[in-house]
Amino acid sequence: MKKNISIYICQSCHFKVQKWFGKCPMCQSWNSFEEEVQTKGKVDQRKYSNGLDDKNTPVALTDVSETQLDRLESKIIEFDRVLGGGLVSGSVTLLAGDPGVGKSTLIACLLEKILSHKTNEIALYISGEESINQVAQRMRRIGVQTNQLLLFSEKNWQEIKKHIMKLKPRILIIDSIQTIYSDQLETAAGTISQIKEVSDEMIVLTKKQLFSSVVIGHITKEGGIAGPKTLEHMVDTVLYLEHSQSGEHRILRALKNRYGPTTEIGIFEMCQRGIREMNLKENQSEDIPLSSHYGRTITATVEGSRVLSIEAQSLVNENKYGQGKRFTTGFDLSRLQMLIAVMEKFLKLKLQDYDIYVNTIGLATKISKSCDLSIVSSILSSLHKINIKSGIVFIGEIGLCGEIRPAYKDRIIVEELIKLNYKKIIVSSRTMNKIEKELKSKCHPIDHVSEMTKFLRTENENISPDK
Ligand code: TYD
Ligand code: MG
Repeated sequence: MKKNISIYICQSCHFKVQKWFGKCPMCQSWNSFEEEVQTKGKVDQRKYSNGLDDKNTPVALTDVSETQLDRLESKIIEFDRVLGGGLVSGSVTLLAGDPGVGKSTLIACLLEKILSHKTNEIALYISGEESINQVAQRMRRIGVQTNQLLLFSEKNWQEIKKHIMKLKPRILIIDSIQTIYSDQLETAAGTISQIKEVSDEMIVLTKKQLFSSVVIGHITKEGGIAGPKTLEHMVDTVLYLEHSQSGEHRILRALKNRYGPTTEIGIFEMCQRGIREMNLKENQSEDIPLSSHYGRTITATVEGSRVLSIEAQSLVNENKYGQGKRFTTGFDLSRLQMLIAVMEKFLKLKLQDYDIYVNTIGLATKISKSCDLSIVSSILSSLHKINIKSGIVFIGEIGLCGEIRPAYKDRIIVEELIKLNYKKIIVSSRTMNKIEKELKSKCHPIDHVSEMTKFLRTENENISPDK
């Protein structure tokens, strides 16, 4: 016989206890325990089974026919690239991100694009957070005007399920999973058991009816996806939408992807009418010739198949009162200290008397070692007051012996930068061996840090005298 028992589950680490605690003994979070009623006795596990056939049996690998993945392209290039070509039929995608980052807006734009080229398909948008009017208002603002989109403001999963089975949509949106509850459980919506129960059933239904589901998920104040970690394991793809470092753009990345890469990023910008994808050219740092400024260089890195430019800025100021301090924004402080040590050793500089501030600006989410050469150049530019000419890009890693090593995926970076009309690319001499003959004329090799000051002085006409 089934019997209901009350237990308390920590919503941060899922630790279970019999009675309420103010502080979780496992993860030390305060007020994280929620009461959940669990049914003791035999639970029908078959409804969660992935084997949708009652006569489920093991099959030999060679007997499994090869099926082509049916992908639903959104025609939003940035979105499709992150997914590896579009939403796969029968797959569940979890889209997570901070409140207000633009998840619902991105989904609205996605629906606008998909429904305008799939004119005989239906999309079902379940909103547990907003009223139909609010959702409709956003859709109209973005330009979705079609009766193919059905809006449903409902939180009860059993009701939702009934309509999914009846309408057979091609695409299902749930905004958000934390607001939906199953009436089979006595706990509140958003608790671990509810999220798990609803997601389990939704995944089975998606695979059975072969539509594509996109589920919006909240994130916790620590930045993790709210709900049980198993939610991330259960879904096929986990996408994360976040603000760029400057806050001006939105970056979409895949944290998990069963049908594609996790290395690609998509770059968007919020605008009056929704979210706008940004093309490659727009991602590049503005290469403004700064006639009276020094301490600024351009570098580039690669994320997935995309080359992103980064602006490195340095400010070197004499510290008359003590030991020079080092500050970084967007760049690893210990890496900067290592670069300074290399400069002191091989350029015979006494940098301990200078405060050094380094700032990296751009859409790249990871500042890789390939920016070393640019950082060192910007420090030298600020220290010696050398204006770096516009159109020059520095790419290369610096080793402890002062050697300039090739940047990761240097050939791809060089090819892309030349397409983007950069005039001169300063690279490791080892990179020169990898690139095509016709591109070599635009590249300049450097072997060692010790050559840098001389190179910067001769290469850049606009040199201010040292004071
Ligand atoms: P929203 O998609 O509701 O965020 P989330 O679902 O992630 O919580 O939108 C967040 C912000 O986007 C909101 O502050 C207003 C802004 N916005 C635009 O700039 N343009 C638009 O067309 C829309 C609909 C929203
Ligand atoms: Mg929203």
